[in-house]
Amino acid sequence: VETDERQPPGNAFEISTDRACLDVAMIHSFLSTSSYWARGRSREDVERSIAHSFCFGAFASGAQIAFGRVVTDFTVFGYLADIFVIPEWQGQGVGRRLVRAMIEHPRLQTLQLLMLRTRDAQSFYTSLGFISPRNPLELMARYPERT
Ligand SMILES: CC(C)(COP(=O)(O)OP(=O)(O)OC[C@H]1O[C@@H](n2cnc3c(N)ncnc32)[C@H](O)[C@@H]1OP(=O)(O)O)[C@@H](O)C(=O)NCCC(=O)NCCS
Repeated sequence: VETDERQPPGNAFEISTDRACLDVAMIHSFLSTSSYWARGRSREDVERSIAHSFCFGAFASGAQIAFGRVVTDFTVFGYLADIFVIPEWQGQGVGRRLVRAMIEHPRLQTLQLLMLRTRDAQSFYTSLGFISPRNPLELMARYPERT
């Protein structure tokens, strides 16, 4: 557990990677109703995604205020997913601290590539060192076929 000592006392929060601390009900509630990317995701799917990811939470006075997970082999590749800060805590540095904790985590230091998708938070991730892919033509994606 890391405490952000730069935060004023009233705004103190901690980052943790302890899966047991996660508030799965809150994470499911935000993702399924407030996110644009995981709208309608079932509780079961949220639980399975958490079980198979390296998860990060931010906590204030014991309550979870932010979440993010890294899908990773802990060796070469990581994909950042489902990152959010609850509305009451947005714009107070929580997102930056959370993503920085992901990027700087000792278990993720051998990764050669971190990827993520975002519809509208490009400048947030740019400030954390992310760029548009250097060689986009090398990247390929396969989307599920919808009937
Ligand atoms: C995007 C999000 C994770 C950022 O977390 P946050 O705690 O609000 O951001 P911070 O307070 O750490 O902000 C860090 C910097 O990013 C900027 N920023 C914050 N949210 C931003 C956004 N959506 N787009 C662009 N810049 C943003 C801030 O202005 C700040 O810049 P500054 O240091 O120059 O003042 C959070 O606002 C959020 O969960 N939003 C709703 C969900 C969402 O839209 N996610 C994006 C899809 S991946």
